[in-house]
Amino acid sequence: MSDATAKKEERRKFQAIRGTRDLLPPETALWSHVEQTAHEVFATFGYGEIRLPIFEQTELFARAVGGDTDIVSKEMFSFADPFNPDDMVKTMVQQALQLGLGVELKHFEQAVQQSAEDKIQFLSLRPEATASVCRAYIEHNMQQLPQPVKLYYMGPMFRRERPQKGRYRQFYQIGAEILGGTDAPGIDSEVIEMLMTFFDKVGLQGATLYINSIGHNGPDCRRAYIGALYNALLKNKDQLGPDSQRRIDTNPLRVLDSKLESEQAIIATLPHIADHLCDGCKTHYAEVKRQLEVRGILYQENWRLVRGLDYYMRTTFEITAPGLGSQNAVCGGGRYDGLVELLGGPPTKGIGFAIGEDRLILSLQESGKGQVQQGRDIYIAWMGEKAYATAIRAAKDLRKAGFSVELPPVEQKFGKALGQADKLGAKYALILGDNEVSEAVWTLKTLSTGEQAKFPEPDLLEFLRKQKNVS
Ligand code: HAM
Repeated sequence: MSDATAKKEERRKFQAIRGTRDLLPPETALWSHVEQTAHEVFATFGYGEIRLPIFEQTELFARAVGGDTDIVSKEMFSFADPFNPDDMVKTMVQQALQLGLGVELKHFEQAVQQSAEDKIQFLSLRPEATASVCRAYIEHNMQQLPQPVKLYYMGPMFRRERPQKGRYRQFYQIGAEILGGTDAPGIDSEVIEMLMTFFDKVGLQGATLYINSIGHNGPDCRRAYIGALYNALLKNKDQLGPDSQRRIDTNPLRVLDSKLESEQAIIATLPHIADHLCDGCKTHYAEVKRQLEVRGILYQENWRLVRGLDYYMRTTFEITAPGLGSQNAVCGGGRYDGLVELLGGPPTKGIGFAIGEDRLILSLQESGKGQVQQGRDIYIAWMGEKAYATAIRAAKDLRKAGFSVELPPVEQKFGKALGQADKLGAKYALILGDNEVSEAVWTLKTLSTGEQAKFPEPDLLEFLRKQKNVS
């Protein structure tokens, strides 16, 4: 490496990896508000929070989401992870000691190391969390709890997608799952009701709920439909793009997801799944719709809503919101009876959803609902050693009372301090100079109006409290 290159390399600025972002204040206040609202709304529906690992065995996602899906075949961040030989030795030595066996540590280590070196496990950063929730349900024997078990989660997910507005490689989801018990349509419609209640509470405007039923994987239901769809697609193969042509064989349902303008006319002629549902699935879907109506929830049916993950059956739904361009789905979900069983657990009903938090925030911001309180409540402008001691005490008391307070660490002339208070968007400046301290009467300046008033110390707190309740 030349000197110049080495120097350049030294000065290199690190940047967040493409598709990942730093979330900064004041925007993070909006994120917290959205998350807090989710905690509150979901609790009123009886859900408890589950916190899951960020990475799991690759196989878990491959089996749950499906090996042929885009998520598993192209988008997962995966890595090989050798078992840690040190830990294995420790565990085995401990076990041997517990059993009262004498151990020659050196021999033991050699043997274990050899076997451990041969073993590698494959892990992936989670691209979604439904698979993990089902894994946890099985691992913790949750089928023995009163059913259904209602869980929600929030946190980052990872998919190696092409980044664009509303699409990131690290993005955040807020999701909920109901596992166990019945598959009564009342469950499907209540999950959707909870979702719409949450969106309403955070102030999302113009959200549209789309629903569909993709039936169950039986020969008298979805499989028959896929056969019909396959035949129809084959007839039109030449007019489809390469992606859709490939999907005819790998997953014909996904052709319905295509956004390619040139394919829309052909897709419009394809058979609809509603005409192929078995009686059980037809009745279930009709009842989900009826119960949404009972709950006063508006929806639109979309026969092309098949979703991009393999585990779904019967009810599927998606919610779109304005201001997001082409990535306008803020939430996706559906029923997945059978997934727990597929992962080695007992036959279990399941349904859930995940909200794309990044997109929800974007939509709130675009509609002007993203304003969060900025700036401090009070900036303390102090001058003099004595005043500083009083200012420290005042800051402590005001913070205890819930106000956000900026206390400059070095003395400033009052003019400069007030300018700084303005820049920080403070509502008030509390002015503490020698006079204020000796008279125990403090000066409060309302920065928006320039008004100034004097208060004895206890009255000041009372005044500020009252103002806070009014605003
Ligand atoms: P999904 O449709 O893959 O479903 O993702 C749910 C939501 O996450 C999407 O509607 C979107 O808002 C957001 N999202 C997905 N990928 C990205 C990305 N690259 N950047 C930003 N946002 C994104 C699931 O993940 C299922 N686990 C949902 C579910 C839960 N079904 C049943 N239970």
